[in-house]
Amino acid sequence: MIYGKRIRLRADERTDIPQFTTWLNDPEVRQHLGHYLPFSLAAEEQWYEGMLKRPREEQPLAIEIRDPASADGWRLIGNCGFMNLDWIHRQGEIGLFLGEKTCWNQGYGTEVMQLLLRHGFETLNLNRISLRVDEDNLRGIHVYEKVGFVHEGRFRQAVYKDGKYQDVLSMSILRSEWNPEE
Ligand SMILES: CC(C)(COP(=O)(O)OP(=O)(O)OC[C@H]1O[C@@H](n2cnc3c(N)ncnc32)[C@H](O)[C@@H]1OP(=O)(O)O)[C@@H](O)C(=O)NCCC(=O)NCCS
Repeated sequence: MIYGKRIRLRADERTDIPQFTTWLNDPEVRQHLGHYLPFSLAAEEQWYEGMLKRPREEQPLAIEIRDPASADGWRLIGNCGFMNLDWIHRQGEIGLFLGEKTCWNQGYGTEVMQLLLRHGFETLNLNRISLRVDEDNLRGIHVYEKVGFVHEGRFRQAVYKDGKYQDVLSMSILRSEWNPEE
């Protein structure tokens, strides 16, 4: 487990699959995640099996918050992790989503990003962490800027969504730019 102040990150489990499927079928949740078609339980199970074959460092992490009402005191609210890790150039991409919409705008996404940056720089020993975000994902962009990501480029008209093209922004943070106190 990777523990933060209010959240913890744990390995994804098979039992998470139905909840992930429900979230990824919610148009509001998936609108910035690059999923356009209805998602079946079988497709999510296939994704899970494929995920287990990926390097351990790239296997996604379930996001949980404290919940006194649940049996083990924690409640699943989303998923996150690293992709495309490159051990020569010591870089990787980061991604996250909070499927539990009632948890949006409460600082959890910011805390997840701070935990992932610490994990990326201090455990995985990365030098550069990057991400891509749709230009209309204003909340996401704000969170990434807040934790220190720098705008470095724009993929023009890279996404066709809701009947129109839009740009995708490329952002990154270097270890030398990261504030470990946050
Ligand atoms: C994007 C996401 C991870 C952010 O997590 P979150 O917990 O909701 O974000 P936080 O509460 O930590 O921070 C939200 C910040 O954005 C700000 N914000 C909210 N809506 C905004 C908007 N439309 N424009 C600009 N800023 C906005 C909030 O005021 C807050 O800023 P503050 O802390 O300076 O006051 C989460 O909302 C999510 O998973 N969304 C759906 C999937 C997704 O977009 N994933 C990312 C794909 S790149």
